[in-house]
Amino acid sequence: MCGLVGIVSGKPVAGRLVDALRRLDYRGYDSAGIATIEGDRMERRRAPGKLFNLEQRLDADPIGGAIGMGHTRWATHGIPNETNAHPHFVGDVCVVHNGIIENFAELRQELAEDGALFETQTDTEILAHLMARYTAEGHKPVAAMLEMLRRLRGAYAFAIMLRSHPGMMMAARCGPPLAIGHGDGEMFFGSDAIALAPFTDEVTYLANGDCAVITRTDVTLFDFYGLPVQRTRQMTQTSSYLVDKGNHRHFMEKEIAEQPEAISHVLARYVDFTSKSVKACNAIDFSGTDSLHIAACGTAYLAGCIGKSYLERYAEIAVEVDVASEFRYRTLPFSKRQAALFVSQSGETADTLAALHICRNNGVVTGAIVNVEGSTIARESDAVFPILAGPEIGVASTKAFTCQLAVFACLAIAAGRRRGTIDSAQEQALVGHLIEVPRIMSDVIARIQPQIEDLAARLARVRHVIYMGRGTSYPLAMEGALKLKEIAYIHAEGYAAGELKHGPIALIDDSMPVIVIAPYDRFFEKTVSNMQEVAARGGRIILITDEKGAAKSSLATIARIVLPHVDDIISPLIFALPLQMLAYHTAVIMGTDVDQPRNLAKSVTVE
Ligand code: M6R
Repeated sequence: MCGLVGIVSGKPVAGRLVDALRRLDYRGYDSAGIATIEGDRMERRRAPGKLFNLEQRLDADPIGGAIGMGHTRWATHGIPNETNAHPHFVGDVCVVHNGIIENFAELRQELAEDGALFETQTDTEILAHLMARYTAEGHKPVAAMLEMLRRLRGAYAFAIMLRSHPGMMMAARCGPPLAIGHGDGEMFFGSDAIALAPFTDEVTYLANGDCAVITRTDVTLFDFYGLPVQRTRQMTQTSSYLVDKGNHRHFMEKEIAEQPEAISHVLARYVDFTSKSVKACNAIDFSGTDSLHIAACGTAYLAGCIGKSYLERYAEIAVEVDVASEFRYRTLPFSKRQAALFVSQSGETADTLAALHICRNNGVVTGAIVNVEGSTIARESDAVFPILAGPEIGVASTKAFTCQLAVFACLAIAAGRRRGTIDSAQEQALVGHLIEVPRIMSDVIARIQPQIEDLAARLARVRHVIYMGRGTSYPLAMEGALKLKEIAYIHAEGYAAGELKHGPIALIDDSMPVIVIAPYDRFFEKTVSNMQEVAARGGRIILITDEKGAAKSSLATIARIVLPHVDDIISPLIFALPLQMLAYHTAVIMGTDVDQPRNLAKSVTVE
């Protein structure tokens, strides 16, 4: 998944292309590049690594031109070096691309047999060669692009400019999002409206299978057969300001600290504080729902696992949760009495979007639990439940996770009321607990900080960590492990505490830290027994529990983090905090790139 931008203007574009790329680097930061046409010259500057490297290159060797395109890359085909960085040139053709051309190997072979010489290992270069071939055969630019589209398999969004046609730019979308920005005497392409926010707040989103040609003053939309299509032009709410870190060292640190406020926004939207009831949750009527699917990826998937517990417990709905990349290939009997929820911070994750399409095409009612309200998943779902976390910039998801949990809790209470599985007194009690979350979170974050920093110094010296828990603490264990892997590059696994003895316990020795997540809930004693089994084999226990749990457990631990005792419905929101903080401080000590860890991107728009 990469970010792309194109500008057709009467004014210089290089600086603005870089500005747009800065807003797109959540989609990848393996390399960046821009290309422009000035007079009869088409030039590019590219650099591996962060955008900063490209800026330095441009400072040393600027380019002019009033038409140009830019790209920030998350490598799929070919290592992240300068050669593989976009834009790619073949003859007069310049291409930037997001996605994967699945039949690239056969196309590459065909083109090579025709005499094409390849400079890169990318699938994108195929596009440039195909365009060059079809234009050389005498096709006009649009006809050449349509010819090319007939040859492609995969999911892609790309933009093309031709040195021979310096007043226009073309683009097509099959999968990943693409927006057109309408400016004053200039037009834009962008992977999303955020990239275009400094230039315009009027956008047209391309639908799947759309193509577009833009000039300075005009846009033409058509489908893959060349037939005209109409799409709505809309105003966006996206801010043109880039969010900054404030007084924090990293966005992740800021986003952890913002959680009390973020949860207050969720509560303001979904809770009536006076009557202690939930509101704004009935866009899907769960009263007639037989079963529910939840599909998501990464941290959003783990939020879905906790959401499942809430929905089963409070609304007595049978819920299946799948990793979206698996869900999309399952063979399932769908029915109109099912509903499906798709959880995504970005609202652009390719696998989650594909899972949504499958449900929608099978008549299942769909709901999106998203942070970015204008995102593709939000736009394409029957109902949207915004999580209102505000911009989350750190690649490691933190505040989006706890906001997703808060929205799931409200949805489960609302569904329980409609299905008659909880009464008004129970609703009031549960909402009463939710209302306490911002205050408890603030206290916990401030109080455990020194202890977490000490513990992080010890964790930074190990190579492997096991996390374990039961009930909602099992997905939390996986979330804690995911955070540590992702930003501290320490191998970590999250297990159901009861599963350890079925294999992983063989890993335990006196060098293995085991982080036990054990709130004093109905699983506590069972988890303590599993902890004993680990301790008996020399494992070094780090216990995360609450005041009641601490009073009940006297087992020797190397560290003990004690949180306030809270109700089950809010326990995962509170217990997520030490896990996030521990990963963060460990990564800081290890000196990793916390906000943009290696090999990752914030938004994953490829399969
Ligand atoms: O934008 P999404 O919530 O759909 O993203 C899903 C995952 O890629 C994401 O949660 C990822 O696992 C995070 N980097 C984890 O911190």
